[in-house]
Amino acid sequence: MGEKLEAELAEEKSSDIRNDGSIVGKSVVRVDAWDKVTGKAQYVDDIPFPGCWYGGTVRSNVPHGKIVKIERSPSFDWSKVIFVAAKDLPGPNEVAMVRRDMPILAKEIVNYVSEPIALIAAPTKALLKAALKAVKVEIEPLEPVLTIEEALSGENVIWGEDNVLAKFEVNKGDAEEAFNEADIIIEETYRTGHQEQLYLEPQGMVALPRDDGGVEVIGSLQCPYYVHSAMTHAFMLPPEKVVIKQAVTGGGFGGKEDFPSLLAIHAAILALKAKRPVKIIYDRAEDMVSTTKRHPSRIRHRTGVKKDGTIVAQDIDLVLDGGAYTTLSIVVLQRSLLHATGCYNIPNAHVSAKVVATNTPPNGAFRGFGAPQSIFAMERQMDKIARTLNLSPVEVRRKNLLRVGDTFPFGQAVEDEGPRLVFERALVISEYERKRAEYSRDRGPKRRGIGVSLFLHGGGFTGSGEQAIDGKVKLKLTSERVELYVSSVDMGQGAATVLTQITAQGLQIPFERVKYMSPDTSKTPDSGPTVASRTTMIVGKIVLRGAEKLIKRLKKYVSDSLDVPFEEVTYNKGFFQRNGVYVVDFLEAARSYEEKHGPLEVIGDYSHPAELYWDDDRCQGDAYQGYAWGANVLEVEVDMDTWEVRPLRDTVVVDVGTAINPLLAVGQVEGGSLQGLGYGYLEVIEVEGGKYKNDRLSNYIIPTSVDCPDFFVELTEIPCSKGAFGAKGLGEMPLSGGGPAVAAAIEHATGLFSNKLPITGEVLTALELKGDERRS
Ligand code: MOS
Repeated sequence: MGEKLEAELAEEKSSDIRNDGSIVGKSVVRVDAWDKVTGKAQYVDDIPFPGCWYGGTVRSNVPHGKIVKIERSPSFDWSKVIFVAAKDLPGPNEVAMVRRDMPILAKEIVNYVSEPIALIAAPTKALLKAALKAVKVEIEPLEPVLTIEEALSGENVIWGEDNVLAKFEVNKGDAEEAFNEADIIIEETYRTGHQEQLYLEPQGMVALPRDDGGVEVIGSLQCPYYVHSAMTHAFMLPPEKVVIKQAVTGGGFGGKEDFPSLLAIHAAILALKAKRPVKIIYDRAEDMVSTTKRHPSRIRHRTGVKKDGTIVAQDIDLVLDGGAYTTLSIVVLQRSLLHATGCYNIPNAHVSAKVVATNTPPNGAFRGFGAPQSIFAMERQMDKIARTLNLSPVEVRRKNLLRVGDTFPFGQAVEDEGPRLVFERALVISEYERKRAEYSRDRGPKRRGIGVSLFLHGGGFTGSGEQAIDGKVKLKLTSERVELYVSSVDMGQGAATVLTQITAQGLQIPFERVKYMSPDTSKTPDSGPTVASRTTMIVGKIVLRGAEKLIKRLKKYVSDSLDVPFEEVTYNKGFFQRNGVYVVDFLEAARSYEEKHGPLEVIGDYSHPAELYWDDDRCQGDAYQGYAWGANVLEVEVDMDTWEVRPLRDTVVVDVGTAINPLLAVGQVEGGSLQGLGYGYLEVIEVEGGKYKNDRLSNYIIPTSVDCPDFFVELTEIPCSKGAFGAKGLGEMPLSGGGPAVAAAIEHATGLFSNKLPITGEVLTALELKGDERRS
């Protein structure tokens, strides 16, 4: 049975492979498929490490306080375990990220519930549990800052001088002046809550001490070099003495972008002290209470509009809750700010953005990276404008859509008609108008609603980020294949497959002749982190530069061996030719090269498009290399007695540029949309006294297959010159459409307008009690 499946897979695979340079655009079977479906793939907790001990964490149980004493019970035999507190750290007590404000272990002050205070390693899980129980930390409570409002008031300062982790502003035209031209000014404040990434595999790391005093870490992570730089800083080790390897990773969604740096350091401290491998694997509960979440937000919109729905001015005040430390909040905030006006042309705009510190677990990266909050607010504001002026939500959007040549508030001009194309197409294939009319006639206890959202995502790092990273990849030619060394990880999203396709196409060789190598900082160059929807688009382009270089080197070899001028040798579809006559194919040339000189290695490097300009201080210029666009038309059914919401059908049209692997692209769109729907109406985290009340799978509800609507996904492919083969960033964008679409569909079904997420039954009941009228 197993054999048969493997044969079928292989056949399916080969039927998709042609040596005619057309592997891009083919839905080849994922390179990791077989290992994953058969259980052969080893996640970090599956890998055997002889003599490995188990690590665990002593945590704060108050949101803010002073550590008075760490007491270890004398009845426990402490000689059997390793114990580490802040005073025992080998180097600076800092997790190096964008800033260095987060300690490895809290020393005097704790700033959030679950903050790590001490670490223990023990030979067995039972002994670890007993040791953790035998530690009592006495903490003198301090007044915590728990909300955005408390942080902004500045009465109780817990970070810097005013609790503000970062702030930015952008201006286009003169918004204040332009409000005078408006027929009406519409104001609303929008709020969104925390969201948990809920990757299938919780966080986990194993650290192994090396004989040379260095340390190796293997774990579930997105960004090998983020972990590497945090480790070299914490242990004051030279780069070559720290090795980071990625194990098979069961989902990341941004949750394994920043947090693994802390966890890797924790495991390594214990391993170095115990002089043996130590692994720390969080269970679901520990993962949910202590790791980063999506930033909650409060976003105020003030929009000046003409009676026909045309926007003349907009003022947006955006605040994110960063939690106790900075993590990646500065860049999350930038993305929030830069996506704040959505897919619309706003002639006069002022957007100010702040991220503030609170005594809650640090919030960090999560698919969308600040954009879902902004886009929810903007899309809801469009619906509010429609509602106020008694216009259709479609008409108001159509009037204000970004067209080619229009500029964002930060000055960048739009280069394609993506917004209009995805929007109109989604309306047509979903039969929006017909259904809007039909569902409006629903009476009775269950009513249907249809709502639309528009969204976008800038691919790659913000502003000059890609220049700063200066990503590199390595291609190694052996006699049998080309090995691809890239620090972009596969965490389930399909990077290994897509980058293999790009390499094969770039080299014009069969797909099976390319091997994606598992990231390992001792062999893999720094291609940058696996984030920002940059892997296919930006890293793919770096891979292509490497491929070009490899062909050139091989061509040089062929011309030298034949003693013919370099210019006379051409390379096409896997063959070197001289004056149009076949000489040798790629693999023969590779074999011959290896016999003579050993494996050929080339580095592909990043090349910044010269025409892109960015001013970091003023937040002005070309913020992203290209924009992907999406439209989401969602149909729901709402039980008017219980407020149960059932998504029925979701039509999502996206322009992601060239789809390198259409099936994987559609999978990303469905998964992201569903995660966005969960964000919209199901996923609640209530914070009480700085503690998450929804801290387990029984009370943190995400959409399951039962809640999944029928998806109709269509890819509109407008190629982007900055991405590999015209690809745009895809991974994060679909999530941004779910929240506002579900809000709009619920509004249509019930008549109730929610200005916050998630829209639970309680939220709808509160709207009714407040006097909002439900649909008759
Ligand atoms: Mo991310 S949220 O992994 O850019």
